[in-house]
Parts: sequence; C-alpha cells; structure tokens
Amino acid sequence: MFSGRIFNGHLIRTQLISGAGLAVPRSSGLSPRRRPRPTQKEKNMAPSATFWDKIAEKYAKQPVSDEAAYQKKLEVTQSYFSPEMEVLEIGCGTGTTSLIHAPFVKHIRATDISQNMIAICKRKAEAQNIANVTFEQATAEDLTVPDGTMDVVMAHSLLHLLEDKEAMMAKVFRMLKPGGLFVTNTVCLGDRMWYMAPLLPIMRLFGFAPLVKVFTVKHLVQTMKEGGYEIDHQWQPDKSIGVFIVAKKPG
Ligand SMILES: C[S@@+](CC[C@H](N)C(=O)[O-])C[C@H]1O[C@@H](n2cnc3c(N)ncnc32)[C@H](O)[C@@H]1O
Repeated sequence: MFSGRIFNGHLIRTQLISGAGLAVPRSSGLSPRRRPRPTQKEKNMAPSATFWDKIAEKYAKQPVSDEAAYQKKLEVTQSYFSPEMEVLEIGCGTGTTSLIHAPFVKHIRATDISQNMIAICKRKAEAQNIANVTFEQATAEDLTVPDGTMDVVMAHSLLHLLEDKEAMMAKVFRMLKPGGLFVTNTVCLGDRMWYMAPLLPIMRLFGFAPLVKVFTVKHLVQTMKEGGYEIDHQWQPDKSIGVFIVAKKPG
C-alpha cells in the first residue's frame, strides 16, 4: 500500500529468479511493416500497464509493509474529509485505500493504468458492498477531469513512476477546487537509495521494473511549492523511503 513500496521488491526478486515479467511484446505474426502503428495513448500505456498487469494478483496479496504508518496516513487523510466531498485517486492499485476512505466522502473516482488492478478493485468493492467508489482503467497522463471540480486528489506511490511528475502535479492543481487538497505518499529514492538510479533503467529494460524516477524529498517539496501548492502536512516515518504530504491549492 502507500507505506513506501518502490514497486514490489519481493516480486521483482521472484521475477529475477524465474525470468518471468519480461515486457517484450509477443510477435503478432505480422511483418513489421504491416503491424498497425500504436496510437500515442497505447504508447503511453503499454510498458507500465504490462508490468503492473503481470504483478497485480501478487501485489493484492502482499501485506502493508508498515501497518502503523499506513493507519496514521489514513487517519490524517480522513481528518480532511467531509461527506460532500468529490475525491479522485490516481494509480489506485488494488483499491484498498479508496475502499477504506469511501464511507467518509460522497464519491471516489479511482483510476489505474492496469486493467488487472482495476478488476481486483471491482471484485473487492462488490465483496464489501461499497457503491460510492467508481473504478476505471486510465493512465494518469490521459485522465480528463474538468478544472476546479475535485475536493481531494490522492496519488500514493505513483509520482516516482511517472515520466513527468511536474506535469502531473500541475494537472492535479488544475483539477482541484480552490482550497482543494493533493494527498500523496511518494517514494523518494534520492535520499537513501540513490544508488539504484543507474540500475533501474536496466531492470526496466528486462521487464523486472517499471519506469522509476529517482528524486529527493526536498526536490519533491520544492517542486510542489513552485507549482503553487502550500504544504499543509508532511510526514516521513523513520527509515521510510516514502514521504506523506497533504498539499493545498490556495483557496
Ligand atoms: C506502487 S503501486 C501503488 C498502488 C496504490 N496506490 C498503493 O498505494 O498501494 C503503483 C500503481 O500505479 C499504477 N500506475 C503506474 N503508472 C501509472 C500511470 N502512468 N497511470 C496510472 N496508473 C499508473 C500501477 O498500475 C500501480 O497500480
């Protein structure tokens, strides 16, 4: 969950051993010249979606790495909620966080690039009889939300997986109502695991990792402030590589 996963260390190790998870497209049987060209949307979705689709079921079974920290972040988030709120979650994974928050707000639109993650979300919502969370497959980059319509946008363990987190933060800023909140737990490898930076592209090349960007907490906070956000709450549990931030669009 959003307690500081880079992606999924255990699964990555498993894949390294088994050789599974290679994100190399199977041959379609068509010659390269006759193969239909992918659309921009397909290009955006393909590699990351493949990676996350493959690990979705195992990801769903993984326990939260720091349950106490997770509970604290849930509590802090809920302290900002009220029953009339419209909430968006981007990169919702298997939907755990949105489903927990559902009783505290009017509606949550929860999105993820992976159709397998979304299938798990829908299963869980049905099993828990939760009707005010709408799950939908969408890339963060292509997601359309009218400006100034969201009370809260959440993106947990997502920003470090995006090619352009600055563009995403600007997009979220536009979606938010004045006074709206961007709640994010973000993996910042730049402080304690900077040495991963040269390894990650190689792991990605062989399908053992998704796109992962390396930056520090200081850089993230600075970027948010430059994007117009005010930092309302910031917390980094001891030894965690993730920082939890509630950032406000000035009202
Ligand atoms: C590390 S998981 C975090 C899941 C969940 N937010 C949590 O805290 O447990 C990252 C999630 O982001 C999704 N994701 C990765 N790249 C994405 C993108 N470009 N657009 C939307 N979702 C994306 C993945 O499918 C995955 O479910």
